[in-house]
Amino acid sequence: MSGNNPFFDLSWIIGESPESPTQSQAIYAILGSILYYRGQTEPNWADITVSDLKKKVGCQAADMVEDGQKLGLGTGSTVFYFLERLGERIRGEGLTVAGIPTSVQTGKQAGEFGIDLITFDDACRLDFYVDGADEIDFSLNMIKGGGGALLREKVVASSSDRKLIIVDASKLVERLGSGFDLPVEVAPFGWKPCSARLESLGCAPSLRMDGSSPFVSNNGNYILDCAFAGGIDDPAGMESALNQIPGVVCNGLFIDLADEALVGREDGVEHIRRGG
Ligand code: 5RP
Repeated sequence: MSGNNPFFDLSWIIGESPESPTQSQAIYAILGSILYYRGQTEPNWADITVSDLKKKVGCQAADMVEDGQKLGLGTGSTVFYFLERLGERIRGEGLTVAGIPTSVQTGKQAGEFGIDLITFDDACRLDFYVDGADEIDFSLNMIKGGGGALLREKVVASSSDRKLIIVDASKLVERLGSGFDLPVEVAPFGWKPCSARLESLGCAPSLRMDGSSPFVSNNGNYILDCAFAGGIDDPAGMESALNQIPGVVCNGLFIDLADEALVGREDGVEHIRRGG
């Protein structure tokens, strides 16, 4: 059992060593051995990064894809790992899939990984949508749009039969809006009066910038990031209220859209399904 363990030479503990060690040296040797063998079999949790957790859920999601499926391809750094693993399966197993990307960025990444792209002209319904989230609560309601892809993400999600969200555990919250500002996509024309209407709903909107110019979404719109002090009281009610404002094209509240989520934690992946 000793192998290469530098702590395992216990011969001196039992009196064979001329140095006759002290009791504290003996305890040190035993503790050292325990830590050494733990290090051989388990990852060092302190070294696990958020990217590792994103990769873990991204790969697990890609392994859930079935041959022949039409996919909804989300956007973001977690989805990147999903696409990467999917590409490996396409090359390695000859998996045949095609997907609708939710952003120009995802379309580009998917192309690089060898994933075939389709449009809604090819299929109006998709089998499986996989995407990240900025916040997700225990009912699987979400805030999305941190990457600015909320409009296409909502259209693709609502056109898919199975909807899976992949997140690291930092995204799981009790109350939506408590740690992330709600993105609202608005038409550039009249965005200021739109912002004032949003403010009357109890938030502080700020125009998303890209350097010194407003950020422009893939659909040619602006995004107002809306801060709700203490979070959003009634996410479903807020979603409806936002949709009533002329000029709002889409909001980042995704209510009753996810069926299941993979949550990456340091000690494994939790699979949460709607309704328990
Ligand atoms: C993009 C999104 C993303 O899904 C969300 O921002 C999560 O991104 P990441 O996986 O990089 O943390 O909604 O509009």
